[in-house]
Amino acid sequence: MRVAVLTGGGDCPGLNAVIRGIVKARKDEEVVGIMRGWKGAVEGTYVRLSDENVEGIHLLGGTILGTSRVNPFSIEGGPEKVEANLKKEGIDALIAIGGDDTLTVASKFSSRGFKVIGVPKTIDNDVANTDYTFGFHTAVNVGADAIDRLQSTAKSHERIIFVELMGRNAGWITLEAGLAAGAHLILIPEFPRTIEEIIEVLDKRMKAKRYAVVAVAEGFKPTELEQVVGDKTSVDAFGHIKLGGIAHYLAEIIEQKTGYETRSVVLGHLLRGGTPTAFDRILGTRYGVEAMRLVQQGDFGRMVALRGNDIISIPLQYGVATKKVVPYEYYKLAEMFFG
Ligand code: F6P
Repeated sequence: MRVAVLTGGGDCPGLNAVIRGIVKARKDEEVVGIMRGWKGAVEGTYVRLSDENVEGIHLLGGTILGTSRVNPFSIEGGPEKVEANLKKEGIDALIAIGGDDTLTVASKFSSRGFKVIGVPKTIDNDVANTDYTFGFHTAVNVGADAIDRLQSTAKSHERIIFVELMGRNAGWITLEAGLAAGAHLILIPEFPRTIEEIIEVLDKRMKAKRYAVVAVAEGFKPTELEQVVGDKTSVDAFGHIKLGGIAHYLAEIIEQKTGYETRSVVLGHLLRGGTPTAFDRILGTRYGVEAMRLVQQGDFGRMVALRGNDIISIPLQYGVATKKVVPYEYYKLAEMFFG
């Protein structure tokens, strides 16, 4: 049996651990990698994967297969090209490693009759029906370390520093990094606030302690703004605009309105780069091994998932049906430490 693997969407620490897990768990299957995600599937760019190719790669960030944000279903004749290439290469099954967008495409190929397994990936941790996606733990650690470091400089200069973290629809990274590093206010897409409400918290904090660090997710929108802050002219194949700039926006407006000195920092892709934590290496490895096991059992149309400490599998469409966002109770807990 020939099994193809691809990694799609934003890269994520732990992707290589999944690839290695898949290759190591093979029996008599032959594993090939599709280069650059769905782009390579459309173009037919394949590479043979062996024990040698995956030696030690679980220690590395990024993905040895490369990635893209290409959507074959938004390309004329795209799905047919993918299917023709898979057929030409004699591929019997496909393991797609990706977030919501990549898995939605995988689910469509599954509905068209191809044998597909999904592996959930995103630093944002917003894939539904899995407790965690790998990459998230690494991103939270990097974010928490950055917020820790901003505390001392904010304090020395008696400033408010706004630090922007990735998180398009879900504020998991910002919430957990902020909570771990003691941010004085955490702003996430799930719970909008008005500028006046933000000022109220910060004014109290500044009067008492004279400095503050605010963790804000890139997808946070103050209640009075019509749209999220970002580059609306740049939209990817899945219809997402390029986000970024909310920390700068808030820093400017709050300095204007309060007179407190502010600064802003964008962590952006720093959160995604570099070597995965031990947790993400292990989660990625377990996902990869389970994905190959499902292939061997002929259990297709499924997504591997973490439930408690167990690796399970669920129908692929459950993973892409909704987004997992931060629940109100969790945000309430974080709120206890604001100010
Ligand atoms: O993969 C999800 C994500 O990390 C989002 O949080 C962020 O908005 C996006 O990727 C940025 O991706 P790109 O690499 O295309 O700039």
